Amino acid sequence: RKLEKFVDPLPNLQPLKPDKKTGDGVHYEITMKQFKRKLHRDLPATTLWGYNGQFPGPMIEANRDEPVHVAWLNQLPNKHLLPVDVSIHGLEQLPIVRTVVHLHGIETKADSDGHPEAWYTNNFQETGPVFSRETFTYPNHQRGSLLWYHDHAMGITRLNVYAGLAGMYILRDEHEKSLNLPAGDYEIPLMITDRSLNADGSLFYPSQPDDAAKNLPNPSILPAYNGDTIIVNGKAWPFLEVEPRKYRFRILNASNTRSYQLQLDSNINFQQIGSDGGLLRHPVEIEKIGFQPAERIDVIIDFSKAAGQSILLKNDLGPDADPNDDTGDIMQFRVTKSLKNKDRSHLPQTLSVIPSLKQNDISGIRYLKLVGSADEFDRPLLLLNNKHWHDPITENPQLGTTEIWAFTNTTNFSHPIHIHLVQFQVLEHQPFDLEQYNQDGKIIFTGPPEAPAANHRGWKDTIEVPAATITRVIAKFAPYSGEFVWHCHILEHEDYDMMRPYMVADDDK
Ligand code: C2O
Ligand code: CU
Repeated sequence: RKLEKFVDPLPNLQPLKPDKKTGDGVHYEITMKQFKRKLHRDLPATTLWGYNGQFPGPMIEANRDEPVHVAWLNQLPNKHLLPVDVSIHGLEQLPIVRTVVHLHGIETKADSDGHPEAWYTNNFQETGPVFSRETFTYPNHQRGSLLWYHDHAMGITRLNVYAGLAGMYILRDEHEKSLNLPAGDYEIPLMITDRSLNADGSLFYPSQPDDAAKNLPNPSILPAYNGDTIIVNGKAWPFLEVEPRKYRFRILNASNTRSYQLQLDSNINFQQIGSDGGLLRHPVEIEKIGFQPAERIDVIIDFSKAAGQSILLKNDLGPDADPNDDTGDIMQFRVTKSLKNKDRSHLPQTLSVIPSLKQNDISGIRYLKLVGSADEFDRPLLLLNNKHWHDPITENPQLGTTEIWAFTNTTNFSHPIHIHLVQFQVLEHQPFDLEQYNQDGKIIFTGPPEAPAANHRGWKDTIEVPAATITRVIAKFAPYSGEFVWHCHILEHEDYDMMRPYMVADDDK
């Protein structure tokens, strides 16, 4: 029994009203709760976890240089909605339901960054070893961009996010406002995720891999998980009625594992104007956009020549796709509204200035290997530089220095690598011979370094590191010292065990 597509209107995300404004910024109190909500017209309501009882969580709209303070309260039940594998990370010792919020892409101090071990339970009854505060502060001294907040608790991030703990955060700046891009009703945030749903509406997340060996713990973590239903802003395969004019879409891939190849089923191309860390230098006209978990894209779609048409936002599954795979569809635009006013918005050819970090003094290069191995149950265990989460810190850039991080992917598939605290620039991807590497551990390049795709030449905080490549990024580790993390953003990988702490060291302290 299949769900009919394009029967629910796209939910329109409205910015949350602050609780108060004071001399030191804007204050919010946001509470994680269990609640029920219909994800599709023909399904009973789904039990979810959400910030303020919403999925997606309420959208925060912030202004550059105006700090935001959020008290992130946990009022979740103490039983998890989904199967928790306690065989990893010593979780049998810890409370099952633990949360901590990370605002992805923000530059903030370590104690407001949502360290995975700064978790806490309902009403802060129990707290993790790194917990230090109940209210987090986001300074917002950075460019306008679409950020997002989501759960980050050690060992259960995949389950907490899948249960619904994710929301958007739009940071505005004056430069961007001066450009006269489509705004107001014509600027639309889209949070794309995938889930699997049972006939009674409940969330489905497997408790073990399909081919589970008998000795596996139950529940047991999976090496990856793709849901079969695409959910945008909290509705399965929604539709949106639009006017024949330009729109700006702020799109987030909030899926656990799934990456997308976004495409429109018409002769309209995207004009990509921004990436994770804000506007690009110039718009990039692009037919298909590869879109990994946690990445954000900012695109203009011009419907002005499409009056009366229906246009699908597709996920190109490639030539070998199973025709029954519904995840090739994302949502539908219906150009059925009449034009309210002449479209006076603008798409300038110069969007922003991005100084190249290559001009900085570079203090060093770190070679960081993405490695596949196996655990005691013969389950896949993915590691960074062969280290586990709990091993001592190995990456410790000095505050204010610029480094190159060379991610060397020795596995068979892509990993979206994310570094907290910084926005980085992608220098290049260089292919090497993986078979050779598997035989003798030698990196033999099979081609010259390739420049990043045009739409990856702005600020990024998450980048696809393709299999059998070294992907080099450059970052300036500032403006805060302290302990942060870097990890793969496939949440099943992050939880086991593709995440490492890193330290921005301040020798003057
Ligand atoms: Cu979006 Cu460390 O996370
Ligand atoms: Cu990964």
